[in-house]
Amino acid sequence: MTTARRRHARVAAQPSTAFTSVALAILAFFSSASAELPDPTPAPGPTVAASHSLFSYEEKTLTGPDKWGSLDPDWAICRDGKEQSPIDISKVEAKQDMGPLEHTYNAGACIMQNRGHDFILKWKDGNGKLTVEKKDYVLQQVHWHVPSEHTVNGTRFDMEMHMVHQDSSGARAVISVLFSTKQAGHPSKTLTSMGPYFKRLAGKDNEDEDVKEPVDPSHWVDESSGYYRYEGSLTTPPCTEGVIWTIMSKVKHVTEEQIKLLDGVSEKPEENDRPAQKINDRVVRYYESESAKSGMEKKT
Ligand SMILES: *[C@@H]1O[C@H](CO)[C@@H](O)[C@H](O)[C@H]1NC(C)=O
Repeated sequence: MTTARRRHARVAAQPSTAFTSVALAILAFFSSASAELPDPTPAPGPTVAASHSLFSYEEKTLTGPDKWGSLDPDWAICRDGKEQSPIDISKVEAKQDMGPLEHTYNAGACIMQNRGHDFILKWKDGNGKLTVEKKDYVLQQVHWHVPSEHTVNGTRFDMEMHMVHQDSSGARAVISVLFSTKQAGHPSKTLTSMGPYFKRLAGKDNEDEDVKEPVDPSHWVDESSGYYRYEGSLTTPPCTEGVIWTIMSKVKHVTEEQIKLLDGVSEKPEENDRPAQKINDRVVRYYESESAKSGMEKKT
């Protein structure tokens, strides 16, 4: 995936290597010389030696979310884009003709990787498909954000899972599932079975491990849930637009323990949620499921 490559292979030969090294040197100079980094320990800071990525989630730092668009010419859209993600979902337009989500997944071989800011589970050969407006997108990977990036009427949830799909032309469709420790329900078995991988890869930026058992993501997408749909972007640099977002309206249960494991991705736990972006003239459509209509779906 572009995002992964951008984040971790930047020291390898790429067109922007020269730019990046210069930028890193400048950033390293300024971050040590200025008082802008409140924490004197340089752990997540932009030092040349650190294998951490060039961007961070720390507000008011030189690599924080409001600076992403200036860190690399290829990331300008993070700043200039008019259809960026995430957003706060508040005003929605009912759109029942979108119909229930169409997807088929199966069990497939996976690799779990620590990307520095998050854990990512990748299917080696892609997995199944999601059909949106008659186009098929193959599931490539899922990764987790703590806390959630999308908010609903200002409510932020404890965790958000992104299931990233891609079609043959590289266009993306992402399904997002929101999780809360306060939501009643059973913890995800699959997430529980990932526990040992999260533990072993904790704090190990850019390391990965083959997952022993094939992973089946079918039950991660709840058939009885409605969803919100809008056009947005990747929530990490390069913030590429043209992503079709589907946010499941039914919030799922997650345990404190699972949140803690996901937090262990970096030695110093950091929140990896990009702040809400402007909606501009976009419309969020809402497909209400049958169970939501009959009051089964709990509004949070
Ligand atoms: C947000 O709140 C408003 C006002 O109560 C309501 O009309 C709207 O449907 C809510 N949006 C969502 C996504 O729940």
